Amino acid sequence: MTLDEIIKSRRSIRKYQDKTVPRELIEQCLEAARLAPSACNSQPYRFVILDDKATKNSFCENVFTGLYANCKNLGMNASVLIAVCTKAGGNITTRLGQVISGTKFYLIDTGIAVEHLVLKAQDLGLGTCWIGWFNTKKAKKFLKLPFDVKCEILIALGYPDEEPSPRPRKEFKDIISYNKY
Ligand SMILES: Cc1cc2nc3c(=O)[nH]c(=O)nc-3n(C[C@H](O)[C@H](O)[C@H](O)COP(=O)(O)O)c2cc1C
Repeated sequence: MTLDEIIKSRRSIRKYQDKTVPRELIEQCLEAARLAPSACNSQPYRFVILDDKATKNSFCENVFTGLYANCKNLGMNASVLIAVCTKAGGNITTRLGQVISGTKFYLIDTGIAVEHLVLKAQDLGLGTCWIGWFNTKKAKKFLKLPFDVKCEILIALGYPDEEPSPRPRKEFKDIISYNKY
């Protein structure tokens, strides 16, 4: 697929086939994430792959409770969940930059890396869905993360079992302007 085809065909997939994703393919996605740019090259992320069904489902039982229950089916249904963890504020240089500029570079870095992963998955015929709606405190406990590391986002991964229509996007005129806001 060309880059344009990958970008245009990607959808958030919430139903997956009951089929194992080989680690070799998961690692191709992670390699795309690894090559992403980051502020001061700080690479402030770590990816925890939950590809053991019992572990993944137990994670889902923990993090999709109460307010977050509506995303549980998605997590349970995915073959793999990738827990994207970041060290708060990135490294010392980006932390300083963040204090001065007020921009959370480490979250931008994480978003870029994860979208690299997502687009590579699409290239390999795999589906993904970003999941931001989960109990991050429970995820931290389950994954035994160090005190300064947070699980910011989850990525569901697997072979798609649905073909969703494209979701609407804003018009160009609503998101871009030249030379002034
Ligand atoms: C940061 C982020 C968090 C998201 N969290 C969730 C989520 O918790 N549950 C969910 O079903 N979809 C989630 N999504 C998927 C969006 O709903 C989806 O990308 C959007 O509706 C556009 O649809 P599309 O991805 O099919 O183009 C999230 C997407 C992003 C980028």
